[in-house]
Amino acid sequence: MIGLWAEPGANPACLAGLASRIPADTIADPPANGVYLALTAAGLELRVADMPWQGLRADWLDAGLDRRAREGRRALIARALGLRGKATPRILDATCGLGRDSAHLLRLGCRVTAIERSPVVATLVEDAANRASTAGATWIAGWRGVTVDDAPVRLKDLTASDFDAIYLDPMFGGDRRSALPKRELQMLRQVVGDDPDAGALLKAARATGLRVAMKHHPRSPALARPDHQVRGGRARFDVYLPVSGS
Ligand SMILES: C[S@@+](CC[C@H](N)C(=O)[O-])C[C@H]1O[C@@H](n2cnc3c(N)ncnc32)[C@H](O)[C@@H]1O
Repeated sequence: MIGLWAEPGANPACLAGLASRIPADTIADPPANGVYLALTAAGLELRVADMPWQGLRADWLDAGLDRRAREGRRALIARALGLRGKATPRILDATCGLGRDSAHLLRLGCRVTAIERSPVVATLVEDAANRASTAGATWIAGWRGVTVDDAPVRLKDLTASDFDAIYLDPMFGGDRRSALPKRELQMLRQVVGDDPDAGALLKAARATGLRVAMKHHPRSPALARPDHQVRGGRARFDVYLPVSGS
């Protein structure tokens, strides 16, 4: 179980709320080694004991996300998910991670529902969404929340009318196309590991009959033959079109 430490001055009610929602041990002092969660005045952070000054937060107010949004629906991810011509597309982000892609899609006017199997990572995402809401970000209105679960379990209950598209971005081993700096990616990997079951996830998503877009490194192999691909310098999106009649 991960340790949860509150910096002096952090809100005690917030700490109690977190401790009741996630499998974490409340600790009086930062641990000597390993990763832990730190509740600070600025938000919740994942930290590594030997470098506590380099915490990892889900930050949905980051200027980089604002810059990304300027590209609008010409962005690769928007093309892969088929957003053009839809006023408020409903997207299921089935591998939410720290939610940077979710936050991008929210800025593009999508309604985003997310799934994340790590309760620790999902809590960082909730913290980011709360901070965006408190800061008055209007795009947060499209956020439908994150559910902690293994995505295929949830995908089984979906029908093709529930969403416009499903977005998949699993953690591939040796991943080089993440937006996260190397050290932060390593920290995230310490909590979630790699996702060797990405093939089963893709299969479950396609079985819903919905459009599916899966993000890859530009040179990594496809997990199944896509209907088409949207290619960029840092990422490639494999697109599986809706299956009619399902
Ligand atoms: C590479 S990260 C996603 C990054 C995210 N797109 C972003 O922009 O921040 C992959 C995440 O997907 C989650 N994940 C992978 N397979 C999953 C599954 N079957 N169900 C739920 N979550 C899954 C992992 O726990 C990890 O947090």
